[in-house]
Amino acid sequence: MKAGQIQQDDGIPRKRGGRARLLPGLSVKDGYTKHPFDVEHGVQTSGLVAGRHLGIGQKTDRQITAYYGVAPSVFQSLLRRWQRSKPLAPRKDYTFVDIGAGMGRAMLLAAELPFREVVGVELHPMLAHTAQKNQAVWEMAGRAQSVMRVVCQDVLDFEFPASPCMAFLFNPFGPVVMRRLLAKMARSFAGREGQLDLLYVNHEQESILQRHPGFQCLFAGPVRRSRVDAIADHTIMANQPDGEYAASNYEDCSIWRWMGRTKREPGLDERTTKRES
Ligand SMILES: C[S@@+](CC[C@H](N)C(=O)[O-])C[C@H]1O[C@@H](n2cnc3c(N)ncnc32)[C@H](O)[C@@H]1O
Repeated sequence: MKAGQIQQDDGIPRKRGGRARLLPGLSVKDGYTKHPFDVEHGVQTSGLVAGRHLGIGQKTDRQITAYYGVAPSVFQSLLRRWQRSKPLAPRKDYTFVDIGAGMGRAMLLAAELPFREVVGVELHPMLAHTAQKNQAVWEMAGRAQSVMRVVCQDVLDFEFPASPCMAFLFNPFGPVVMRRLLAKMARSFAGREGQLDLLYVNHEQESILQRHPGFQCLFAGPVRRSRVDAIADHTIMANQPDGEYAASNYEDCSIWRWMGRTKREPGLDERTTKRES
């Protein structure tokens, strides 16, 4: 923390006088540009914060990729694909867990549908705090069809629910944390075949899932952004001061189902890879 800042109990650094300091990437001088989703709904989920600004003093800080809200059109399209994948139970029985919830855009979109519960797990206190404020806006506007909850913690400390679970990941971290998360999931869902599905957007660590004997790939391929999202994301990327990140017109995504195996069996390497038309 820099001189002139104070740390409060909620872990959020503030300037003297009480105003929270904005994270790098969330002010106009850093190229901050509002996404139409925020303009339409009066929430605050825009901005691009590089992973190096999101560390909380843990050994795994360098695994954090960045904060960036998922394109609503990609999220909704992937969820429709999941719906067609013959899930174990009706959606209303699933707990939706956003692993690395950031400011909660994916949570808000999920909560527009009736899930058993929508939970956002976010490591960084400032992002989690904003997600909580967005949740309140959503509930006040009557948009939430699900009970919502934001928890500020490392997902490696999160206790997965006893209900069927849909875990959503928008490329939150690198391989070390991904392997640990899958090991934790394997313990939590032991003997619960089919009760955990992963929806993975910008699936950089896909190869780890491919090699894991317990997960079956239901879909892998590019999912296109709508025109509105493509224009918004290209504009936001173009406004970055150092051009570190890039956006294309689609996200590489995949959907995985926990099958409960711990060893690879013959014939299980085949994957269903489909291209979106
Ligand atoms: C790309 S953002 C995704 C935001 C949100 N899921 C969405 O789609 O709108 C990834 C988020 O994961 C968070 N994150 C990274 N590592 C984490 C961890 N170990 N536990 C919880 N959150 C983590 C980051 O702080 C960041 O906010």
